[in-house]
Amino acid sequence: MAEPNFLLSDIWYFAMPGARLKRGAMQAKTLLKQPVLFGRTDAGEVFAIRDICPHRGIPLSCGRFDGREVECCYHGWRFGPDGVCTAIPSLVPGQEFDVSRIKTRRHPVREVQGNVWIWMGDGEPDRDPPRVPHFADDRGANLIEAMDFPCFVDHAVIGLMDPAHGPFVHKSWFWRNERSIHEKAKEFGPAEFGFVMKKHRPSSNSAAYKILGGTPETEIRFQLPGVRIEHIQVGAHTVCNLTTVTPIGDMMTEVTNQMWWTMGWADAAKPLIRRFARKFLGQDRDVVVLQQEGLRHDPSLMLIKDADTQARWYYQLKNEWVRARQEGREFKNPVKDVTLRWRS
Ligand code: FES
Ligand SMILES: [Fe+2]
Repeated sequence: MAEPNFLLSDIWYFAMPGARLKRGAMQAKTLLKQPVLFGRTDAGEVFAIRDICPHRGIPLSCGRFDGREVECCYHGWRFGPDGVCTAIPSLVPGQEFDVSRIKTRRHPVREVQGNVWIWMGDGEPDRDPPRVPHFADDRGANLIEAMDFPCFVDHAVIGLMDPAHGPFVHKSWFWRNERSIHEKAKEFGPAEFGFVMKKHRPSSNSAAYKILGGTPETEIRFQLPGVRIEHIQVGAHTVCNLTTVTPIGDMMTEVTNQMWWTMGWADAAKPLIRRFARKFLGQDRDVVVLQQEGLRHDPSLMLIKDADTQARWYYQLKNEWVRARQEGREFKNPVKDVTLRWRS
């Protein structure tokens, strides 16, 4: 399996929780190796522009933002939230020219369910960012945990969708251990730019589900570039989990896990849930750190049936994404309806 490292473009990436951008504030962040400056205007609109001054290349984030325009710290050129230059202070009468011809790149952004999504690509967005089911567009997550994984994005994505690592990596008294391994059969099928583990009852060996009360039903969706949405229904209550994987650089990936819930008691248990979430995510990160030791020697890797089938689909989806764009045709989902079996 020799997969070249490439990043997908013309697609929505999770950027950051919207609460991090107060009105009149700006924040620099690297995504897909690109320097991006995010900000929120006085009017409440979020924007994202390339964090490089077109004049002499200094990051615009080194300057200041007054809630309407970003001013470069070097020669004071100003830019609107659309990346268009609005003023060049050094010009004297007679030197006027159309400063709006000077631009730094604007990235389309959308704020949905409390999160800022950024469209990384050349064109304009041709669809909406992903959202969790059941909860309204203006309803942010109850819990957000982010962690940096020092690896290429593919390893973070595959690690998160891997069904066989649970009993070894997430060993814990409150979750499960090697002795709880048993055979599983789950139905999968194609879903928008990805696949879905169809609605099913989660394994009874996960003690964490028991505290929810009732018999839960779960559906898990994955879609490019690295978005996993888990929808759990327990009687009248709903829990949604959104995991997003955003490449920062070739060797740095940000994994963010967010939870929405309808149970009031869960708010009281938030510090505890946060601790579990951090521990869980940390276990996934730590194993990826160890994996890097070996990957440095560029070994060939294996994907076996059926436990690694989702990883195989991920690579196939990625390749198809690129090919469909190159050939200017519709995306053809390579995933078929199938039941996968494994022990975990
Ligand atoms: S470098 Fe930004 S104004 Fe000159
Ligand atoms: Fe994991």
